[in-house]
Amino acid sequence: MLDLSQVIDPVYIATIFFFIIGLQRMSNPLTARSGIVWAGAAMLIATIVTFLTPSLSNFALMALGIVVGGGLGYVAAKRVAMTAMPQMVAIYNGMGGGAAASISAVELLRTTTASVSSLAVIGGLIGAVSFSGSVIAFLKLQGWIRQRPMTYPGQQVVNILILLLAAVFGLLVLWHPFALPLSVSLLLPLFFVLALGFGFLMTLPIGGADMPVVISLYNAFTGLAVGLDGFSFATPNYAMVVAGVIVGAAGSLLTLLMARAMNRSISNVLFGAFGATEETGTVVKGSMKPIEADDVAVMLAYASSVVIAPGYGMAVAQAQGKVKELTDVLESKGVTVKFAIHPVAGRMPGHMNVLLAEAGVPYDHLFDRDEINPAFPNTDVVLVIGANDVVNPAAHRQGSPLYGMPILDVEQAKNVIVLKRGQGKGFAGIENDLFYRDNARMLYGDAQESVSKLTHALKKL
Ligand code: TAP
Repeated sequence: MLDLSQVIDPVYIATIFFFIIGLQRMSNPLTARSGIVWAGAAMLIATIVTFLTPSLSNFALMALGIVVGGGLGYVAAKRVAMTAMPQMVAIYNGMGGGAAASISAVELLRTTTASVSSLAVIGGLIGAVSFSGSVIAFLKLQGWIRQRPMTYPGQQVVNILILLLAAVFGLLVLWHPFALPLSVSLLLPLFFVLALGFGFLMTLPIGGADMPVVISLYNAFTGLAVGLDGFSFATPNYAMVVAGVIVGAAGSLLTLLMARAMNRSISNVLFGAFGATEETGTVVKGSMKPIEADDVAVMLAYASSVVIAPGYGMAVAQAQGKVKELTDVLESKGVTVKFAIHPVAGRMPGHMNVLLAEAGVPYDHLFDRDEINPAFPNTDVVLVIGANDVVNPAAHRQGSPLYGMPILDVEQAKNVIVLKRGQGKGFAGIENDLFYRDNARMLYGDAQESVSKLTHALKKL
């Protein structure tokens, strides 16, 4: 008779290729959607084939878990606003870390082989840190706890001591025969409490603005924990190992790319408490000069080149559809329109690309920072739509917390029109002297309304 369990490994290997194809397709906005489908299909197939594992029991419980978890995930994903995506990623990633830590706990309770257990201890530690750290990231991004870094003197020393203590308990779990009279069932909870505590405490001093980088780092942690768990079974689960390694590698690269785009080191993000103090000593000369939509429309109609620099405010206002409409009208009048995309504009990697692709802005209209910066001195009008930190010339000034961050040099354009609601600062909480420059004008209001007004006024000209 056909032994169905023999198909498990070949199918797992096939899913690994699906994951890789999915990830590769996600790296380009044009193929990203199909990348999600490939990876989703791989996950579905891997889940189904796991049910063929010999000696599996608790089918009903597993099916219930899948239905409840899948149902909650489906509803949450359908309802989440684009701007709340980072916290959703944080909480899902935390679930992954928590699941990896739980698998480690179960394996540690039942295995005795030292080498296998040591992988489970490391996986458990990393998974637990990822879980509790991601929960704090979620709470901060959701605004349910203070976004600013929570710091106190000696904080890093306390954190390191807790990590060391967790490591000691991890070793005691491994060599519990020597730790008598303490039993594994007592050592294990203490180990996990310390690991979870470390994740909480290490994330509290990190500011809200740095959370996307931290989430990406914890994502890499979760991948690593899952990969280690894959090895810790009596029969290694290679789908888990490879999927974990892919997530770990992708998360690590993304973390590095984001940190580089902000000109920050990972240790500065983790231990620098960026945003803990307000910027002091900034001297901003002049005043913000308001302008009306009708006047901007005239300026745009007579321009030959316009660059749109979108940021987080465009996402908040969900203005991308209106921005596409404005682009079409400008192009119909013979104006060249380009988009300047900063790698960390918005609140997640690729945020602007996703929104603009969703609105149907052709991909060849999007230019990254290095491509567009040389073009600004010859640009007639730059429309800054809800961007702030990524266009802040303070990044060129020594002593500014933003110093060294590569920015879009929009201030070099002939005219800069800034669309924002009021005098609000960017996520880094730093004053933006671009808004006070002679060539800058402020078009106040919600970005969606302001862009609509511009399109309307342009059509009348
Ligand atoms: P921000 O600096 O966050 O500024 C957004 C601006 O949009 C605010 O000044 C706000 O001013 C305006 N705004 C908000 N709602 C609006 C609305 N409905 N209509 C019009 N304007 C609105 O945005 P940014 O320039 O995109 O910079 C992103 C920040 O996030 C950077 O500090 C970056 O380092 C950080 N960050 C991003 C990432 C990723 S991966 N994207 C990762 C880590 C950190 P008003 O309140 O006056 O309207």
